Order: sequence, then structure tokens, then C-alpha cells
Amino acid sequence: MDPHRARSLVDLETGQISREVFFNQEIFDLEMKNLFPRSWLFVGHATQIPNPGDYFSSWMGSDPVLLTRDVDGGVYVLLNSCRHRGMKVCRYDEGNTMQFTCPYHAWSYSMDGSLVNVPGDLFGVPHMKAAYSGKLEKQDWGLVRCPKVYNYKGLVFANWDENAEDFLDYVGDFHWWLDNLADAFDGTPGDTEVFHGVLKWRIKSNWKFVSENFLGDTYHGASTHASVEAIGIGPGGRGKRRHGERQDQGGHSTGRMKTSFRNGHGASDNLAYEIAYPEFVEPEMNEYFDQAWATRKERLDAEGRRLGGRGPATMFPNMSFAAGFPRSILVAHPISPTETEVWRWFLTDKKAPEHVREWLRQYYMRYGGPAGMTEQDDMENWDYATQASKGVVAQRYPYNYQQGLGTEQLSELDRAVHSNHAISGEVNARAFYRRWSEFVDNLGWDELIEIAKSDDRIESIIRRQAEEAAAEVAA
Ligand code: FES
Ligand code: FE
Repeated sequence: MDPHRARSLVDLETGQISREVFFNQEIFDLEMKNLFPRSWLFVGHATQIPNPGDYFSSWMGSDPVLLTRDVDGGVYVLLNSCRHRGMKVCRYDEGNTMQFTCPYHAWSYSMDGSLVNVPGDLFGVPHMKAAYSGKLEKQDWGLVRCPKVYNYKGLVFANWDENAEDFLDYVGDFHWWLDNLADAFDGTPGDTEVFHGVLKWRIKSNWKFVSENFLGDTYHGASTHASVEAIGIGPGGRGKRRHGERQDQGGHSTGRMKTSFRNGHGASDNLAYEIAYPEFVEPEMNEYFDQAWATRKERLDAEGRRLGGRGPATMFPNMSFAAGFPRSILVAHPISPTETEVWRWFLTDKKAPEHVREWLRQYYMRYGGPAGMTEQDDMENWDYATQASKGVVAQRYPYNYQQGLGTEQLSELDRAVHSNHAISGEVNARAFYRRWSEFVDNLGWDELIEIAKSDDRIESIIRRQAEEAAAEVAA
């Protein structure tokens, strides 16, 4: 196997990316092997498991996992596969239990994954008694526990690689976007919760179409979502959108610069961008949000900053979200090169009154998921693009990622650049695929961190700007 295989498919100089990245089974297998088990992945929200014994079934790449809370309040991420013959020890989406008993031969595990009972061990059912002669080393046969778990204001992330970069370093300055997702509307840190379960559905396309769409593709808004815009409920917020958002520099489709991070994360805006809060038809909604916004503004003024970082955004590799208003998390779980299971979590303030929750519930249903009027537009694109791209001839021709090529500006944020143009989301896409190729080619952590810190693209921008400044002085 060519160790530069993935990097050879991503040509950042000319802005071309091979279709193999999206349709080749071998590349998909490398993603499963080299990317997902080494990346920080969103597993679930702490408010989904508030009590001892609570669990939530999730996925990390190709592996099913359980997010659990044990009797001491500890949060664990466990491989949902019995250590005896691999049976799924839990087949429910979520619930509460004191232990997981495997349906196959009934090995039982506690919420922290420890193997607590084995039929046929010393205390098994009588006819099986002493099948192991009391010699099974139970402490060695617990459910596999994910070595790295990080609870960021309720957002629970996990990483299988115990040598992985620490979570806060992996995220870097992209944390501002996570903060706007996790904090309450009035800015109270982490005071949000998931409500009304998780929406799950499958699409017939590659998981990266989803990540890429949210990390900066505002280009598609005006054409793809033209019909929902026409009736005033689209993401652009133009026209007679029911809750009539205050104008926020043109809304979803125009007017925002992009921010791309060397670690692969990308956002459709920057921190200087001012989030406008919505204006509602319902006076009691305005009352709640006006108050929340005033409190938040006070906090921001005290910190001397504006409330940018709304997104849509993608945290590398497959967690996307909207962080301003409303707030929702989307994870694109890879199933095959041409199939993805999409999960959406919806967030609300913990202290939000019932009428606010109900309003948000209706909004989310109208907007998101396979029946949501905006999200189905995107799914249709990805589905047809997949059909038309995976043919033998079609795969010979790369996709075009030349938008905004060479227009990157240095960001004030660490290891980040802005595009200089509102629409140039492909700046973010190029950074994403560059990072993607480094993971898929299995570069070591030292090398990954080193490259991120000494980005030659950023260096070349600095050099160019210095030269331009010098030329100006000389003139
Ligand atoms: Fe779980 Fe045998 S597979 S007890
Ligand atoms: Fe869209």
C-alpha cells in the first residue's frame, strides 16, 4: 500500500479532489482503520444519562459503543460487544439498568464495564457450576473501555487512541463554536440539554458530503433551498420567514467569512460576526429571548468580545452543528462508501419554559431530518451526486475545489485562516481534506501535531503578506 495514497488523491495546489475519496471501498476501509479510531468523536450528551445506571447506545466509526453513568456518577464509553463471543450486550437505544447481561450466555457487566458475573464460574447456576473451576480472571475480561473520554460542557467526546492529542489541543480555538453550542442562550456555561430524543435516518451517500456541507458550504443555499426560501422558511432568513429573524448581515447564504482550522475543523463564519437573535411573532418568545440576549450581551461586553461562532460548523471529522439559534448537533456515521446514518440531537436551555421548548420542537421538526423541509433538499443533492459519481467513467474525473484558491487570510485564531470572501467555503473544505488525508495515510501523532503547528500554507500567506507590505513601503 502506497503510504501517500490518500494525500495523492487530494491536490490542494490546483484544488482538485479525486472521486475515489468518496466511492472507493479501499479508501473507506482505511478511514475506518486510521481515521475514526484516532479521532475525537462525539458520542452523546451528558443530559441523556443524568442518573446512575443510565445508558445511551452510540457509534464510533465502525464500532457500537455504550455511553454509561455508574453508581458513583462516573461517565464511561464502552465497546458494546461481549468479551465471550462478541454478542451486543445491549440492544436498546437508551435506558437504565444496573448491569448489562449478555443475551447469548449471560455474562454480566457493570456500568463501568467490569465483568461481574459469569454463569459457570464459581457462583454460576448449579449445573454449570465450576465450568471455569473458579479460575476465570474476571478482571481481565470486562467490556473494552474507551481510554479517552472528555465531557465538554455536557458534550461527551471519546477517542480510542490513548496516545491521541488531548481534547482541548485537538479542538484549539474552535472551542468558541463549541461554547456557543453548549452554553445557554443567556451565556450560562453548559446550561443546555438534549430534548425529545435523537432523530436517526439513513442516506445513500458518503459521510463526508455531510461534514463538508456544514463546514462552510453556504454556496448551495440560494439554489438548493430556493423553494423553502420562496415560502419564507429557509435557512437564509430572507422574505417572510415565520419568526422574522432580524437581519444578520444577509443570513445563511451570504455575507459571512469562513474560518478553517489546520486541525480540519471548519465554520461558516468567524468570531467577529454578530449573531442576531430572532424576533418572534409570539410576544412570550420575545420576552424570553430578549432577556437571555441582554444577559449574554453583558457577559460578552465584560469580556470585550462579540458573539461570533454560530456556524454551521463541523468538528473534524464527522460532528456538525448549528450553534447560534437554533442549536442542533448532527453526526454522520459511516456505514459504507455510499451509505451514512445521520443522527440529530436538538438542544434547549435547561431553564427554558415549556412554551419555548414547544416552539423549538416545532421548528426542529419543520427544518430537520428526512421530513424536514430544509434538510431533505440537501439529502436529495447528496443522493443524486452519489448516483452520478460512482460510475467507472465518472470516477476518472476529480471534483472541483478551486473556489477561493489563494484568497486565504490569516486569522487571529491559532492555526486558522479566514477566507476573504463570504461564499468561499471551499477554503474550509480544502483544509478538511488535507487533514483527512494525513489521518487516512496514518501519520503518527507527533507528525500530525507538528504539521498542524507549522502549516506551510499559513507560512506562505504570512510571507506573501510581508512581501506585499514591503512592496507598499518601497513604493
Ligand atoms: Fe456474551 Fe457468550 S457471547 S456471554
Ligand atoms: Fe443545506
